[in-house]
Amino acid sequence: MMDQIATNRTDYLYERVVDEISHLVDQGTLRAGDRIPSIRKLSSKDGISVSTVLQAYLVLENKGIIEARPQSGYYVKSHRDLPAEPKPTHPPPTVTAVGVSQLVSQVFHAARDPRVTDLGAATPSPGLLPIKRLNRIVGTLMRRYDPAAINYDFPPGYEPLRRQIAKRSPEFGSSLTADDIITTNGAMEAVNLCIRAVAKAGDIIAIESPTYFGFLQIIESLGMKAVEIPTHARNGILLDELEQLIRRHKIKACLLCTNLSNPLGSSMPDKNKKELVELLARREIPLIEDDIYGDLCFAPLRPKTAKAYDKKGLVLLCSSFSKTVAPGFRVGWAAPGRFRSEVERLKFMNTMATATLPQMTISEFLENGGYDRHLRRLKKRFADQMRFVTDLVSQRFPKETKVTRPAGGYLLWVELPKRVNSLRLHAEALRQNISIAPGPMFSPKNRYENFIRLSCGQTESERIEEAIAKLGRIMKDIR
Ligand SMILES: Cc1ncc(COP(=O)(O)O)c(C=O)c1O
Repeated sequence: MMDQIATNRTDYLYERVVDEISHLVDQGTLRAGDRIPSIRKLSSKDGISVSTVLQAYLVLENKGIIEARPQSGYYVKSHRDLPAEPKPTHPPPTVTAVGVSQLVSQVFHAARDPRVTDLGAATPSPGLLPIKRLNRIVGTLMRRYDPAAINYDFPPGYEPLRRQIAKRSPEFGSSLTADDIITTNGAMEAVNLCIRAVAKAGDIIAIESPTYFGFLQIIESLGMKAVEIPTHARNGILLDELEQLIRRHKIKACLLCTNLSNPLGSSMPDKNKKELVELLARREIPLIEDDIYGDLCFAPLRPKTAKAYDKKGLVLLCSSFSKTVAPGFRVGWAAPGRFRSEVERLKFMNTMATATLPQMTISEFLENGGYDRHLRRLKKRFADQMRFVTDLVSQRFPKETKVTRPAGGYLLWVELPKRVNSLRLHAEALRQNISIAPGPMFSPKNRYENFIRLSCGQTESERIEEAIAKLGRIMKDIR
């Protein structure tokens, strides 16, 4: 987001634009032949002058990174060789019960040992999070002796925080008010409450394939069933396939990560989001949309959410600050559209309130401008890390390995040769103090046996290098 660039007056703005676009190209998000935003578009959207953007594009041209095509715009000229990407998925179109919780708890329990190099958990290294700033805010808040800070904060939650979230909503294409929002204990509680507001035990929920195992655990724990939607590694769910599934089954709700999904890292183009919302609206099917990674998109402008196209209040948008600020604060939120009062009621029944001090802290962090600056740095680090890990994978893993190229976040979905069973790989890796997330955790019936998810949220280069090399060696031995 280049508007954040404009707030930092210590550097030349054009250099920052150069930096961001170079990162996107290096990391593979922008590929040879991809069009980059026009000078005018970037300038007007982000409040940077046309001459600044022009200067940046000239530098990029001179570096041989982009080329101007007359009457057409600017395009990416060159990029590094990257491993191929996995093909779109083809799950069976059948409804299934979900059984992943045992596998998930085994995997995560084993990874808690501090000696383990953690490439499995989708959490940013604490060193990347704004701990000093948060410490200061907490200290200031507590020194105020404000009784509110230690009291219950009943649903819908801390009003100044809800206002801050609403204030940012135009960035993702909505115009929410504080009243539209309910704060929750992380995105997990938000999704849990939203799904309970629209479906009950036995109902069918349509999900991406592969999908975040936390969604599967929620569906499993509520006795619901799942049907998997074929999904493209870059563009998210295939809408035609979803339409057919809707014809075939009585789908009660969809539960999707429309931007930077976990584990694929796919982001639905805004046009597809609009079509999705319209398709579901025709059938009155609610969409629970998890946008937890949306702020981590590397592109200059962050994408919209499906909520932006919601005219009937059928989209229940969920998110949190776990991936960007502080997972342990457990501050999340939902904008549940027409299901707002039901979600508020469920929130009260579920955990009564969201912890007050973390809500106050995040609210302050958002309000005083620290969040945008922090996000900018964080995204750069993640882009570097993704490039680093992708390069290591292409050097150390078998040559048939395929890797996704997400346009943000810090997760890679890796397809290994068919002969490599990722559960066996996981077990052996753990014996050598490396944790990965094996593919079967990401589907209701434990498919994706030769896939793994790698997190690039850690920053200790030597440990990561060593771990990837070890994984490559273990794979050689697996038959
Ligand atoms: C897609 C997705 N949703 C939700 C969560 C959990 O979020 P929170 O920690 O805010 O509950 C995660 C964590 O990995 C996730 O990847």
